[in-house]
Amino acid sequence: DFDYPHTFILLGASGDLAKKKIYPTIWYLYRDNVLPKNTKFVGYARTSQTVSEVRDKCKKYIKVRPGEEDKYEEFWAANDYLAGAYDKRIDFEKLNQLICKNEKGIVANRIFYLAVPPTVFEDVTVNIKNSCIAIKGYTRVIIEKPFGRDDVSSDKLSNHLANLFKEEQIYRIDHYLGKEMVQNLMTIRFANQIFCPSWNRSNIASVLISFKEPFGTEGRGGYFDDFGMIRDVMQNHLLQILSLIAMEKPVSLHPNDIRDEKVKVLRHIPAIEMKDILVGQYVGNPNGNGEEKLGYLDDPTVPKGSVTPTYALAALWINNARWEGVPFILRCGKALNERKAEVRIQYKDVPGDIFGGNTKRNELVIRVQPGEALYLKMMSKSPGMKFDLVETELDLTYSMRYREADVPDAYERLILDVFTGTQMHFVRSDELKEAWRIFTPILQQLEENHVQPHPYVFGSRGPAAADGKLAEYNFKYSGSYKWQKPSIC
Ligand code: BG6
Repeated sequence: DFDYPHTFILLGASGDLAKKKIYPTIWYLYRDNVLPKNTKFVGYARTSQTVSEVRDKCKKYIKVRPGEEDKYEEFWAANDYLAGAYDKRIDFEKLNQLICKNEKGIVANRIFYLAVPPTVFEDVTVNIKNSCIAIKGYTRVIIEKPFGRDDVSSDKLSNHLANLFKEEQIYRIDHYLGKEMVQNLMTIRFANQIFCPSWNRSNIASVLISFKEPFGTEGRGGYFDDFGMIRDVMQNHLLQILSLIAMEKPVSLHPNDIRDEKVKVLRHIPAIEMKDILVGQYVGNPNGNGEEKLGYLDDPTVPKGSVTPTYALAALWINNARWEGVPFILRCGKALNERKAEVRIQYKDVPGDIFGGNTKRNELVIRVQPGEALYLKMMSKSPGMKFDLVETELDLTYSMRYREADVPDAYERLILDVFTGTQMHFVRSDELKEAWRIFTPILQQLEENHVQPHPYVFGSRGPAAADGKLAEYNFKYSGSYKWQKPSIC
């Protein structure tokens, strides 16, 4: 298939996502020669502009290393751009003609990337179906969140898509599924006998999945306010991680076998209850610099008095034989003290203690970013004459162990997967449905009851009340262990 013509059509080519993420990504894939040789790129949006104007807008976000200049010229020469409306069939017919120009021969494939606002989503997909379906090859459609804002709107969107395309044609991106350590979760679990037998309620006390960002909504508050932190990160990125940690072993590595297991474990999770959630919203830090001085509500695009969470902590319960009673704590926030995404699998206390209560719990930490790492916190005898205990770790820090390895960006990996037709790391519609079932009632209650979020200061660790919640969910934090960044020896 890789020798046939391929066209990658970017709808919404004049938008933010296109210039910041998608154009740079397709350039890196092109530069690394991993795309089919005869691939052309077509941008489409309402703005009337030339390819060279698109190129100028992307400049800030694209890295071109010395020696790559010719290749870069070649990349833009493989680009085309067409201005058109999203709701006019005639314009999509022109788009079709433009794509056809590159489609000599008997097979030609098309990939549509929808980087368009949700308001035009339905028009665009109908027009693709009516005017731009490949007749000599496959048509695949990549879509990004928001996939609705609750169960009803998401179902409507899924039904709309199902009327136009087969599930095998739809690639729903959750870019966390493209991250190295998220992809590693299945290997860690199912390729290590040491973990397989202990991965259950008899041994594990709690699981904490967290996402922290050190910046606020950066002037995009008006857009963010419609969604909030739960929809922005928890219901998708964190829940995806949860399903990979909690699911049973799939029959095989076939994408549908994996996704069957993910759906199954989600079906065991009841909708979140009010008692199991805590929400927060950041306020400005008068002693901070720049953006830090401003709270969420100081953003003029945010409606006055908004109670939209910029922080959320929730416990999810999985009522099956493996996990009953083990809290899965999802925690995410903006404007916090650091950038970090990680998973902590905390094991139970050792029963029948003979060390005078000095043992600390084992914890398997999977750090997604920054700096991929996997480490197991464990107790050891302190080296030397004494017989004391020390907290230490078995440490697999990628930058130490794999110095030459080049970890690709999530988007690069996922877009390449679409070319190769691998749906393993994309969200199936039944998975999405379960995710909304779990989150819709709590989102509605928070909104209807106008629940006031706990304030927390920009740059802090989040609302103080969140620490108490962790203890309540059997996650012990002693503060005595410190992971040290390994020095290069
Ligand atoms: C996006 C959210 O899905 O993920 C953003 O909409 C968030 O609000 C981003 O900043 C985080 O992605 P990453 O890859 O930087 O962790």
